[in-house]
Parts: sequence; C-alpha cells; structure tokens
Amino acid sequence: MAESSKNEYGIEIRNLSKIFGSRAEELVHLVEGGITKTELNDQHGHILGLRNINISMPAGGIQVIMGLSGSGKSTLIRHINRLVDPTAGQILVGGEDVVKMSQNELREFRRHKTAMVFQKFGLLPHRNVLENTVYGLEVQGLPRERQVEAAMHWLERVGLKGFETKYPNQLSGGMQQRVGLARALTNDAPILLMDEAFSALDPLIRVDMQTILLDLQKEIRKTIVFITHDLDEALRLGDQIAILRDGEVVQQGTGQEIVMAPADDYILDFVRHVNRARVIRVETIMEKSVADGVALSVPEGTLLEDAARQLIDSGQSEMTVVDCNNRAVGKIDLKRITRSMVSGG
Ligand SMILES: Nc1ncnc2c1ncn2[C@@H]1O[C@H](COP(=O)(O)OP(=O)(O)O)[C@@H](O)[C@H]1O
Ligand SMILES: [Mg+2]
Repeated sequence: MAESSKNEYGIEIRNLSKIFGSRAEELVHLVEGGITKTELNDQHGHILGLRNINISMPAGGIQVIMGLSGSGKSTLIRHINRLVDPTAGQILVGGEDVVKMSQNELREFRRHKTAMVFQKFGLLPHRNVLENTVYGLEVQGLPRERQVEAAMHWLERVGLKGFETKYPNQLSGGMQQRVGLARALTNDAPILLMDEAFSALDPLIRVDMQTILLDLQKEIRKTIVFITHDLDEALRLGDQIAILRDGEVVQQGTGQEIVMAPADDYILDFVRHVNRARVIRVETIMEKSVADGVALSVPEGTLLEDAARQLIDSGQSEMTVVDCNNRAVGKIDLKRITRSMVSGG
C-alpha cells in the first residue's frame, strides 16, 4: 500500500498522430507533411486530433499537458490507456507498446497500471464514500478486508476520515474530488491520469487539491499525467510541461524554461498573466559566479519574491544561492531580481 518500490513506468509518446474520420490512414501522410487542421477539415472532411507528438514523460514525475480547449489534450491522454487508437505512432508505457497489446493485456494494463481522476469526479451516486473508494479493488477481485484497509488508508490521507458513510450528493465538489483521488490511489497503479481533474473546483479549493497532490506525490512517486488549461496550476504541479495548440506541441520544458523563454505569442498569452516573482526561482536567474564575504544565502528553489524580501529586510546588496549540500552555486542581487520580474527580462 505505502509503496516505496521504484516506479518504472515512464511514458514515451513517439511520432503520434491522430486523425478522426473513416479514411484517417490514407490522410496521415498529409498530416505529417504539414496540412493545417482547417485544410484537412475543409478539403477532406477529417478532423486533426494530434500531429506528430513526441513527449518523454519521466517515471515518477508529473507531466502537465496544457493548451486551450480543443487543442488535443484529452485526445492525447486517452491514447495512454488506449481509449483512443492512434492513426500513427507509438505509445510506450514502461517500455511496452500499448498499441500492440491484446484485448486481455489491455484490460489488465488498464486495471492494474493506470488510474484516472475525472473533471466531473465520476463517483457512483448510489454508493457511499467508502464503497466508491474500494471500487477498483472490487473489480480486481481483492478480498474485502484488503479493499477496505487500502481505501481507509487513502481516505485518511486525503483528509476524508469520518466521511466514509456519506454519499456523493452530501459532499462539496472539493470533497467529492478528494474521493476521486482516494479511489484512484487505492487502485495502487503506477500511473495516474488526471484530465482537468481540478478545473471544476473553486480557486481556493483547487489550490488545496494541488497541495494535497504535491504532498502525496513526494511519497507515492506516481507517473502523473495532469491536464490543465491553467498556467498557474501547470507551473505549480509540473515537473515538465508540454503545451499543445491545434494538436501540436508548441513548446515543452520545465515551467522555468517556459516562463523565461516563451516560444511564441500563443504561449506568451498564457505567460503574460503569471506572477513572475512567485514562479521564477533564484537558480533560474542567478549569476553563476560566487563571491566571497556575502553574508546572506538562500537555497535553490527559493522564489524571487522571498529572495527579494530577505534582501530588503537584511539591508544587504546581494545574496549567495546554495545547493542542497550548502555549496555556493551563484549569486543574485535586487537589480537582477527586478529585471527578471519584468516580462521578457
Ligand atoms: N471522437 C471524436 N471525433 C471527432 N473529433 C474529435 C473527437 N474527439 C476529439 N475530436 C476533436 O479533436 C480535437 C481535440 O479535442 P480534445 O482532445 O477533446 O481537446 P481538449 O481536450 O484540448 O479540449 C478537437 O477539434 C475535437 O473536436
Ligand atoms: Mg479535454
């Protein structure tokens, strides 16, 4: 239950294209040749879902997929457990090609290797919280005591102890999604697929859910694919972020890379609205030389806002950035911080 074994389920998406329509295979060469989504629709009556996607999602990390509505996010995540069949390309999960699985293998794979958390929670209304949470293990045919033991453990971890006998309609949206998360974790699968799982929640509740997920992830180390159209959420959760537009990846990298160097105007439109002081970290902007005799130091990972406050409070002109072994790796001053808080700086 409290699994500590190493997660080996990285996900490799290779040259993945998806066209919706009856003659998809015939048209795939056009898509690979660069026909636009509009042209494909106007000239051939087919819908471009995804074009030549390559993403390497690390085992035990959080991969965020971001993009506006209709950009292909759901289509992409649904390929991972093959709710959608690709027109071309490969989806390797833990080294195994999902497309080559037989119906039986696929059923086992979905049941044991993946768990999903849905935007609309997807709880069964006539089942209470506990019965919703054990659902996956019930399907797996585990003994009842094991189902209940696992479910109670995860319900407590998501803060729902004491709510076991409530029904979904007695719970707020945030509480219902905690059940959704507990149910997914109770499945004990290495891969967690979360399609806009927090998008329906009120902003404060949403941030709470992000905190719960991040806290749990330190221990559970699932391979999480998390879809959102919210950049703040993406930056907070994502070890890596891939941004889609019209079925294509327009930029991928860490949140820091994307905020510091947005690839085009589409991405700039997302990035423009973030509070840079609360997103950019000291190591991203530091000068990579170390000076002697600097009194003040901050660890890597410190946000600019916190670093600035410490500098101002201390009356010092600069500070050293140290790594996890307390070794100096660079330095920053207020001017550098201020410059990078101005977009494009
Ligand atoms: N089953 C389907 N049949 C036809 N077109 C589809 C189907 N599913 C998705 N699409 C189209 O594929 C594109 C991407 O959709 P989707 O993956 O749902 O986007 P997102 O999740 O980013 O909002 C859209 O143009 C959508 O209309
Ligand atoms: Mg979607």
